[in-house]
Amino acid sequence: MKLVATETLSRLTSLHCSACGTKYSAFDLQRTSTCCTLPLVADYDLHEPLGRDAIDQADSSMWRYGALLPLLHEENKVTLGEGMTPMLNLPRLAARHELSSLLLKDEGQNPTGSFKARGLSMAISKAKELGVDGCIIPTAGNAGVAMAAYCARAGLKAVVVMPRHTPQAFKEECYWYGAEVELVDGLISDCGARVRQRNANGALLDISTLKEPYRLEGKKTMGYEIAEQLNWQLPDVLLYPAGGGTGLIGIWKAFQEMKALGWLAPHHALPRMVAVQAKNCCPLLETYAGRQPNCHSYQGSPTLANGLAVPHPLGEAMMLRVLRESRGTVVSVSEEDMLAGMRDLGQQEGLFVAPEGAAVWMAARQLLATGWLQRNESVLLLNTGSGQKYMDNVAGRAMR
Ligand SMILES: Cc1ncc(COP(=O)(O)O)c(C=O)c1O
Ligand SMILES: [Zn+2]
Repeated sequence: MKLVATETLSRLTSLHCSACGTKYSAFDLQRTSTCCTLPLVADYDLHEPLGRDAIDQADSSMWRYGALLPLLHEENKVTLGEGMTPMLNLPRLAARHELSSLLLKDEGQNPTGSFKARGLSMAISKAKELGVDGCIIPTAGNAGVAMAAYCARAGLKAVVVMPRHTPQAFKEECYWYGAEVELVDGLISDCGARVRQRNANGALLDISTLKEPYRLEGKKTMGYEIAEQLNWQLPDVLLYPAGGGTGLIGIWKAFQEMKALGWLAPHHALPRMVAVQAKNCCPLLETYAGRQPNCHSYQGSPTLANGLAVPHPLGEAMMLRVLRESRGTVVSVSEEDMLAGMRDLGQQEGLFVAPEGAAVWMAARQLLATGWLQRNESVLLLNTGSGQKYMDNVAGRAMR
């Protein structure tokens, strides 16, 4: 279906190939770039002045940044109230580790219990706007649950392909949203292969990470919110659990857009971005450390943090660019440390976080120990999900 951007608040102008910059229409249904078979990225008109008063203060969801989002027509919005999650102080852990400022943005409080709600709300809204009938996704759990929920709300068919070892709560929730669930022996990369095979005729829109341009646009709203909630003063260091990497790439994209719009002070240093991976599956770390040319042949194994078991992220080059541009780094965390992190955040701060969020806190502790992170720097942790769905992975392990 052809769309024309008339009578819309959205500043969307085009898409471009993340590798070579070739432009694509933002008003047709697109998948990856045909030039390089790599992710497409949305562009906006950032030259025409747009002040922070463009934020719709009456809207307490991620949709308050509507001018900088790709949805053209309000009636296509598929929302469950995602975004504007709490920015919490962690005073007890900060005191214990002598940190001057330790914050956590709790994405576990989103609809469907994770930050995936942002990307899927956006992608499914755009799928609806572009006339799609149904969607298919390979997932480690949270993204599939979110896609199933938003497809149900949009009246679209949903097919979710996930590893057989995924905790039962994720599968069960998909069923309750009416999705078809297929289980695959292996990791998300094997699920991706199954999606390609099953959807060879392209009847469904493949919502795999970065294989359509709009999940990234939903995820970037975390960056806008972080700035707004911190009164436009960004932290020195931001830690994020990277699987496919849409959050890392999206938050950085938001910071660049805000700089271009003049929403951040001109000489404001942007945060150093830290990608946190599981020791069991850390392709980005291996490439970053020069131990492999790229992630294509990396062998990963399952982890308690299901969302981090992504052995061949399509957006690897985009993640590496964020790390380089922000002078960030990559850290990997062991399974035992994830459990220790869950205990720390639970017992000291009353937060039952996903193992991915726990990994982020333990990565901060590692970086403090090596001196990469200084105690007087302000630190922001992204907890990307609630711990509640991971019971099959963590039950009985609250005490050491
Ligand atoms: C709780 C949680 N954290 C982090 C991730 C990784 O997210 P991304 O693939 O956007 O890097 C996932 C992905 O499934 C997840 O479910
Ligand atoms: Zn290209």
